[in-house]
Amino acid sequence: MPHNHPHIPRHIAMIMDGNGRWAKERGLPRREGHRAGAESVREVMEACKELGVEFLTLYAFSSENWSRPADEIKALMDLLNRFLDEKAKDLDKQNVRLLAIGQIDRLPEKTRDRLAKIIERTKNHSSMTLVLALSYGAREEIVAAARSLAADAAAGNISPDQIDSSLFASRLQTAGIPDPDLLVRTSGEMRVSNFLLWQISYAEMVIVKKFWPDFRQGDLFDAVREYQSRHRRFGAL
Ligand code: FPP
Repeated sequence: MPHNHPHIPRHIAMIMDGNGRWAKERGLPRREGHRAGAESVREVMEACKELGVEFLTLYAFSSENWSRPADEIKALMDLLNRFLDEKAKDLDKQNVRLLAIGQIDRLPEKTRDRLAKIIERTKNHSSMTLVLALSYGAREEIVAAARSLAADAAAGNISPDQIDSSLFASRLQTAGIPDPDLLVRTSGEMRVSNFLLWQISYAEMVIVKKFWPDFRQGDLFDAVREYQSRHRRFGAL
């Protein structure tokens, strides 16, 4: 696929589903599914860089995931820590900027420290932006934006009729990030699962049957081809 093709989505968002079922099919513990899923993350990042995708957002941990068993949460945090340790140098070398959205203060301290360091170290990088959604829930994000606008209105800093969609979007954690053009979900489910509810208003959705650990570079290219085959009209004729 050509680099910087005009129809390459500028922002791809991914719901990485099916790690548990992938492991179950093989008689393995769920954490093995997550481990294999972390390999898919590495491949998809490479593929996006190669295509010239500017923003890649990964739903790595949802606010609902806190209700999973403690050992599974620990396995996910360990994988995330390992990923961050490994990627700290790579992201820097490859000119990739790291951002995180979600309730980051709920993450373990070790993870928060690693995240903060890499985010700081890569803040001026410009080849691609990797956005990790961690302890993320779109409703929580929208409620927080509404609360901050309400506080400003109550304090007399803004008037309610100044609130429009661009002011609202500027209070979301994704302020400054363009909306996703393409949303990919693996493992066949037709659900959005509280991911980027505001931001995906006009995104093309591609649902892939494969479980996330089986989703590799070629599958990402296929999803982009599917995106390119659709005619986007933003509701107009
Ligand atoms: C969904 O599968 C996946 C997750 C809850 C976590 C995604 C995490 C990774 C891919 C690995 C770590 C992330 C990074 C960024 C290195 P599921 O467990 O809900 O699967 P199931 O629906 O089959 O049970």
